[in-house]
Amino acid sequence: MTDKYAVIGNPIAHSKSPQIHKMFAEQTGQDISYEAILAPPDGFAATVERLRKAGYKGCNVTVPFKFEAFKLANDVSNEVIDAIDSGDKADAVNTLDFRNYKIASYNTDGIGLVNDIEQNLKVSLKNKRILLIGAGGAAAGVLHPLLEASQSPLVIYNRTLKKATSLKKTVEQHDKFRLFSIKAVEFGGLRDEQFDVIINATSAGLTDSEIPLPATIFAPSALAYDMMYGRETPFMKFAREHGASVVADGLGMLVEQAAESFRIWRGIRPDTAPVIAALRNQ
Ligand code: ATR
Repeated sequence: MTDKYAVIGNPIAHSKSPQIHKMFAEQTGQDISYEAILAPPDGFAATVERLRKAGYKGCNVTVPFKFEAFKLANDVSNEVIDAIDSGDKADAVNTLDFRNYKIASYNTDGIGLVNDIEQNLKVSLKNKRILLIGAGGAAAGVLHPLLEASQSPLVIYNRTLKKATSLKKTVEQHDKFRLFSIKAVEFGGLRDEQFDVIINATSAGLTDSEIPLPATIFAPSALAYDMMYGRETPFMKFAREHGASVVADGLGMLVEQAAESFRIWRGIRPDTAPVIAALRNQ
């Protein structure tokens, strides 16, 4: 029997996830269906319950429901499996697994970003100076996996200092990250520092807004990574013009986070390279 999965969000019409999971299923010979479901802003929990009752095996969760998904999973499940990142650190989850009468929650965004950078772009994060731009849900979801991969100090750079400081404090509550210093800096507050990896986790690209960055911010052979995809953002343009040696959008991350979700649900990891290539060619 075909196992059913879905992605829940609002808006959801332009999601590439159904297409990605269809390609994964074909490639691995798994008998699954995967659809995009629009939930009303106040209807996330009801939608999840409807899917569970209808026998769905799991779902992905996207904007604006990632925080609500974390709460829901923890209310329903006494035990949350911690295979990737159960969301207890990020407080936002993008993957739910409905097996065994509970809701297990995961956040695969961070591992998706790290895999795209290290495996696809072949840039090691170990000991790199990282600048993470943004302090919203997207930044929070990738911060821990980035620190685990880099094992080095990191700067959070955000338009609103308070949000950067609060994200820094949340991270510092977890012992193992106390080893690495995390600095919160407000837009305009960077001076002569240089970074090896600069990641834009803000939604500034949606409105074509510029991120104020010093012209000398990119270290030699720096990577500039925008978690948005679909078109060149002002941040990517700035990076190209100011010495970043690799400039990447977030399409690879999108496919990599999907692959980790697929692995959680199906126990098999699809090959991401042909799927990224197919999406790039569209
Ligand atoms: P998401 O879940 O996509 O991260 P969010 O939680 O609303 O969404 O966070 C949006 C992030 O993008 C924040 O870091 C926000 O900065 P503020 O904390 O100052 O609001 C940032 N952001 C959004 N629009 C921006 C813009 N035009 N310029 C700079 N930063 C912007």
